[in-house]
Order: sequence, then C-alpha cells, then structure tokens
Amino acid sequence: PHILLINGPNLNLLGTREPDIYGHTTLADVESLARTQATSLGATLSTFQSNHEGAIIDRIQTAAGHTPPNPTTTTTPTPTLDSPGPKPSLIIINPGALTHTSVAIRDALLGVGVPFVEVHVSNVHGREGFRRHSYLSDKAVAVVCGMGVFGYRAAVEFGVGFLREGRG
Ligand code: DQA
Repeated sequence: PHILLINGPNLNLLGTREPDIYGHTTLADVESLARTQATSLGATLSTFQSNHEGAIIDRIQTAAGHTPPNPTTTTTPTPTLDSPGPKPSLIIINPGALTHTSVAIRDALLGVGVPFVEVHVSNVHGREGFRRHSYLSDKAVAVVCGMGVFGYRAAVEFGVGFLREGRG
C-alpha cells in the first residue's frame, strides 16, 4: 500500500515555530521518520508540504490520477507539483490553519474518494475557539490531535493497519 502525507501552511516551520505548542522536531525529521516507519511496516509513503491551498488541492487531485488545470500554460506541468508517484490508498493530512477555513480541501478529498486521516500536532480543542471546528473531521477515517509529532507516527501505524484490513 502507498500513503501520501500532506502538510499545509506553516508546517514547514515545525521545530522552530511556537515550540511550546508544536515542539522541537522539524518537518524534515517527521517526514523521514514516517517514510522509514512505512517501509518497516511493508508500505511506501510520499510527502508533500505547501503553504498554498490551491497547490494542496492540485496534489490531492494528482495523487488520484487527475491532471489539474495549469494556470499559466497548457503545455508545461505546474512547477509546484512533484511527480505524482504511485496512487495512494490513504492520505494522511495536517492541513494547518486551512483545517478551519477550507471547504475546497474538503471537496478535493471527497472528490477523489481517497480515505484520509486528519492529524494535528496540538490539541486543537484546548486552544482558541476557532480551532475547534474542522471542515474535515466528519469525513475523516480518524482524527489525531494533541499527541505532538507522535501523532504522525500513530497515523501511519493506524493507516497501514486500516489498509491491511481492507477498509481502504
Ligand atoms: C495545527 C493546528 C491548526 O489550528 C494550526 O493552524 C496549525 C497546526 C496542528 O498541527 O496542531 O497550523 O494543524
């Protein structure tokens, strides 16, 4: 099975950003640990981070084999997209602040029909009121929050088991 790990805005700052809330582990460490962990469980994992809502939507569409429209030209690929690689049977996504604002990311995930796990490093229910609502949680297979970066590890292990059980 193949898993796609997506991180949204400001998660590139993991490790230095508000460390009392998000800890000291960098996104590069999170991503390489997740890849190693997936391999050890007999799965593969690719990663994507963007600060741009549209780039995240394009990546979700590309993952499912769709070719998103190119805003600048119809002949060359959108430069922000990495090669789509194998089609994921599960997406693990921390949409950052877009969790609380983006109907479009919700629609993209539902549109491609790939099951997803929502991850938050912090406990979004113990912070500002606006972080308590997510546009994704009611459609997620599972939601992880408040475990720090361990949440990604939990999501990968859960995700591989979920796919093994044929629930994907
Ligand atoms: C976050 C929580 C969001 O509310 C916040 O905007 C983030 C990170 C988390 O991982 O805890 O950027 O998704």
